[in-house]
Amino acid sequence: MKSFLLCCVFLCTMLPRSNMQIAVPATVLNCCEGDILLLLDSSGSIANYEFSRLLHFTAELLRPFSLGRGHVRVGLLQVGTNPNLEFSLDIHNSQESLQKALRRVIHLHGDTNTVAALRVAQQLLTEREEDVPKILLWLTDGVQPGDVEKPMTELKAQGVSVLIVSTVHGNYQVLQRAVTPPLESHLYSVDIDNINIITEDLREAIIEIIRAERLRIVHLTSHNAVLQWRPVLRADSGYYELWYNSMLKTDSETRHILSGDSSWVELTNLQPDTTYTASVHPESNQRLFNTLSVNFTTLPDALSLAVVSVSDSGPHQIRVSWGPLQPGQVRRYMVEYGAIPSGRVQTVTLHNQRNSTLLTGLEPGTQYLVTVSALHKNGKEIAMSVRACTQEALPALADLQLIPVESQEVQVVWQAHQEGLKGYYLKWEGEDSQRSSSKSSFSSVHLSPTTRSTRLTHLAPGSRVCVSPVYSSGIGDGLCCNAESHRDSSQGG
Ligand SMILES: *[C@@H]1O[C@H](CO)[C@@H](O)[C@H](O)[C@H]1NC(C)=O
Ligand SMILES: *[C@@H]1O[C@H](CO)[C@@H](O)[C@H](O)[C@H]1NC(C)=O
Repeated sequence: MKSFLLCCVFLCTMLPRSNMQIAVPATVLNCCEGDILLLLDSSGSIANYEFSRLLHFTAELLRPFSLGRGHVRVGLLQVGTNPNLEFSLDIHNSQESLQKALRRVIHLHGDTNTVAALRVAQQLLTEREEDVPKILLWLTDGVQPGDVEKPMTELKAQGVSVLIVSTVHGNYQVLQRAVTPPLESHLYSVDIDNINIITEDLREAIIEIIRAERLRIVHLTSHNAVLQWRPVLRADSGYYELWYNSMLKTDSETRHILSGDSSWVELTNLQPDTTYTASVHPESNQRLFNTLSVNFTTLPDALSLAVVSVSDSGPHQIRVSWGPLQPGQVRRYMVEYGAIPSGRVQTVTLHNQRNSTLLTGLEPGTQYLVTVSALHKNGKEIAMSVRACTQEALPALADLQLIPVESQEVQVVWQAHQEGLKGYYLKWEGEDSQRSSSKSSFSSVHLSPTTRSTRLTHLAPGSRVCVSPVYSSGIGDGLCCNAESHRDSSQGG
């Protein structure tokens, strides 16, 4: 207590408004998560008056806590000739019902069979799977406690904190050995008429044990996360420091200061499908707090088309691609396209596994508005539009002549537009020397853009010769001639 007071004097000069109490709001104390089992001496050695004072003390001690699973659970086991479980840990979810139950407890007046009660206590405190702090609060007159050392040692070994309130300076040494250290805050020997003076100290000791040091994610989307923690400060007793970053540390760490009365924060502008680590540190001049941390992964971005792109566009076609594919969320895709500004809009519907489609039959040199919509299974529709141009029509071959040279031999001469020209594609029917002379086969060759003519030999009788200009954006319309006849200007591919 001495160091406590010195500390206070020091703080008062530093912080005029500081208050030495840990935040204990008048209403509910939403600070903690843990189990408290009251072990109440109900034997004949306790006077009725003493018994009811103990119950009243207990009621006041516990009144500020919010109760139930996820908060504080309270059970009451009476020590008598036989242990009597007044109520177990999962009975009371509100202060109203706990307070009512405490007023109804009846004094047993039997022997002080504490050892038998401790066996029951051990069962009650260890049956719960969740790893929450557990407290056995033993309220006794300290008279003839029995051989409690072994069961108490076992309880402590199982992680239960044993706190003791004794009303008579009876067998103090037994109590000293039973209690979980430190004695100063866990063992109280007090005259029953003055028992109220220890209420706050004991409550603080309890809070110290069951203070929930957890940072929880209570809401998570693809871009946001809401973090929640149990308030341990007040607006005037300190502040929280928050920092977070993605695990891959792609961005720099974000830091914020939050006021002492906050108990949650929303992180925004997060990346979807990304693992983050976040920490909250309560900063106070009055005591040290641990830093709370949590790791979480944002949800995948369910409701967006991240990319819509256009490729392979020719005079009559455009390929539209999108992504990422989300077959889990998307029912199907719909692609609508029409010439800008007033072309007829056409629609194609595609399976949810498709991430691209080739739009054909388009006008050359025309701008189109292409809209890709993802129709989600939840009924939502997310659309994204791009503008895309088809290419100008490619110039056709300007002229083609076949000049006979010898039997089965011709000189092929042609003309084409030179702009963007990459070369020529020639195709003709030749005699297949490997097979019988009545059979023929097609041959083809690519020629450089500077070529204007070439000689073909071993032509099949009546062979058809076609030449097409090749531009960087596609193949222009070609011309074809039959070797025997004169010029034939039918179009070829
Ligand atoms: C978060 O993940 C890191 C790296 O895997 C780990 O070291 C840390 O203990 C995790 N923190 C929590 C609160 O789980
Ligand atoms: C479309 O899917 C293929 C394979 O399924 C993939 O290689 C390609 O990257 C995807 N395209 C887009 C735009 O997501």
